[in-house]
Amino acid sequence: MTNPGAAPHSKTVIVTGGAGGGIGGAIAAVMAEAGWNVVIVDLDIEAGQSLSGRLRRKGLAAAFLGADIVNADCAEKAVSFAMDSYGAVDALVNNAGVGMVQDITGVSDEDYRRIFDVNVDAAYRFSRAAVRAMPGSGGSIVNIGSVHALANITGYTVYAATKGAIDAFTRALAADCGPRGIRVNCIHPGLVPSPQNRELIQRLTSDVDAWLESYTYKRQLLANLPTGRQVGELVKFFLSDAAVAITGQSIAIDGGTSVMLYERCL
Ligand SMILES: NC(=O)c1ccc[n+]([C@@H]2O[C@H](COP(=O)([O-])OP(=O)(O)OC[C@H]3O[C@@H](n4cnc5c(N)ncnc54)[C@H](O)[C@@H]3O)[C@@H](O)[C@H]2O)c1
Repeated sequence: MTNPGAAPHSKTVIVTGGAGGGIGGAIAAVMAEAGWNVVIVDLDIEAGQSLSGRLRRKGLAAAFLGADIVNADCAEKAVSFAMDSYGAVDALVNNAGVGMVQDITGVSDEDYRRIFDVNVDAAYRFSRAAVRAMPGSGGSIVNIGSVHALANITGYTVYAATKGAIDAFTRALAADCGPRGIRVNCIHPGLVPSPQNRELIQRLTSDVDAWLESYTYKRQLLANLPTGRQVGELVKFFLSDAAVAITGQSIAIDGGTSVMLYERCL
């Protein structure tokens, strides 16, 4: 589909999982509102068409490619789609990711493979394709990791391994790409109450809101959970000229979760 409403002279960013009702969609909206051409890649066709349509109706530049990022040719297709739509790829946000809460003894090889395919392999392929396409003047990549790359609770062995991989990948890719003027950084969100996350929590409890309130009090230093928009604003900063001297860095946006030794109980 090529009806992207391109803003002339704007830069173009690809956001994987950019149709998501949590972090991905918020990143896409924040970047479009900041004047970027946004290419959303997501397997949820209804959500992708709906969000890109909403953004275009506001006069913003957004194009949608419905695709599964696990497919080996998806990254190249997404880059071609961005070039056809807007003529360039200046930035990439590797946002798409799936969660898993499961004791290691219950993880099947298929589940293990699938989560690595989405959370790690696809990020690698999209980064490779984007770096090949970025202009000689440079570009910028932001990887969305997780607080689980830094600290953990039970049930997160495999998910944490994928996000730890993304954290290390960020630094190594920054080393590869620095001489090309391409910056690579990583954001580790804490608990953001996205639809995907609410679904996972529903497996633990029937009262998701009470669970979230208790989590916020016990596992954060600050009183509010981070939001998708706040992650989007951080992405916008990393992709902006204000961050031209920053690469290979990871930062948590987690209300303090990753610096706590014990949960608060009083
Ligand atoms: N929500 C949180 O609390 C939280 C916390 C830490 C890290 N993260 C990470 O942030 C990112 C976004 O998570 P979110 O929960 O906000 O979800 P989100 O709202 O961004 O939704 C994820 C989107 O990715 C898409 N997607 C999933 N698999 C795909 C595939 N194979 N191909 C194409 N699209 C695919 C889904 O359709 C969905 O639209 C993920 O990498 C996640 O691991 C989330």
